Amino acid sequence: MRYTRMPIEAESPEQMGYDKIRNNLSESSYTDAFLREFSGGEDLGRLLLCYGSHEGHEGLRELIVSGSGALTRDQVLLTIGAAGALFIIATTLLEKGDELIVVRPNYATNIETPRAIGATIHFIDLHFENRWALDIDAIKRAITPGTRYISVTHPHNPTGACLEEPQLLQLAAIAETHNLYVLVDETYRDMVFDRQLPLAVEYSPRIISISSLSKTYGLPGLRTGWLICRDRPLFETFLAAKEQIHICGPVIDEELAYRYLLHRDRHFPRITADIRAKLEIVKNWMGQQDDWEWVEPRGGCVGFPRLKDPGAVDIDRFYHSLLADYGTYVGPGHWFEMPRHYMRLGFGWPTKEQLKEGLSALTAAVRASRC
Ligand SMILES: Cc1ncc(COP(=O)(O)O)c(C=O)c1O
Repeated sequence: MRYTRMPIEAESPEQMGYDKIRNNLSESSYTDAFLREFSGGEDLGRLLLCYGSHEGHEGLRELIVSGSGALTRDQVLLTIGAAGALFIIATTLLEKGDELIVVRPNYATNIETPRAIGATIHFIDLHFENRWALDIDAIKRAITPGTRYISVTHPHNPTGACLEEPQLLQLAAIAETHNLYVLVDETYRDMVFDRQLPLAVEYSPRIISISSLSKTYGLPGLRTGWLICRDRPLFETFLAAKEQIHICGPVIDEELAYRYLLHRDRHFPRITADIRAKLEIVKNWMGQQDDWEWVEPRGGCVGFPRLKDPGAVDIDRFYHSLLADYGTYVGPGHWFEMPRHYMRLGFGWPTKEQLKEGLSALTAAVRASRC
């Protein structure tokens, strides 16, 4: 493995120092929750700090598949965040020289771990002009006998684009015909604004779903994610990988995650309403902009706008001014291997006031950075 630090992590707000940013519009999660919001979170004294179940907390795994009539907890493996699931899957399925197909732009780990392994990546580039839609025919054309898996994200980070059910069915058929796997990163699944599709893993035993509590519930500090896999021998290999990396997950995190999800109905309506209200704020702002354009996200709490006329703005000066003069931080395009006149705009994490102030700062910083 040849590890390289990813800009999205090296330049993340937590690495920069949250205290240096007034309006944090760079996050892809909902506002971080406090421990006091947990039911019974204060009463952890009776928790035995033994090695936990290697698959993970039984009750939590049960809750994760409770909305599905078809899946059971035995198909769920808890991981250290969705990031841990991505690592386990890539290192299990890939060896140096193997091929995979990855959608771009993407959350960097979906690309960087296969790269560190030395796998050959065939990118399927999404385009603004195409409303960031996934081209399934392009995926079919990219398949070779060496393709081990196809990696897609739904809802998509950083654009908020969503897959349609026929596309998931097509991906399932491709996986079965070509004897390969499809990894569906569903980390943003609970933030879909229209009808929510079944978990992707329900469409085929050759589809692996991953997710976590980080994004919708604002619990990235719990580091609680999972993968769901119906292929038993493959599941066992994922478990072997997990056992070799860290044996089991942190029992405190898993217990807290369990208690939170037990009372999901208490948190979820409030979170969804807040995200929708914040999306309206961004839509209103976007409607008044001459400099920016975007494809409205259909899920998640991020969008990926771009400057209409990149040649008219000194982009380095823009990002510098945005933070130095206006205390506002966004995710620049290079976090996603895209030109820097694209940026990820996270609207779920800041308060409404911070969001409004941050959006005004974007307008002002562009004006101040014209060539
Ligand atoms: C698409 C996607 N997958 C996975 C992750 C990893 O998140 P976590 O490990 O906190 O669950 C992220 C984080 O930004 C993401 O955007």
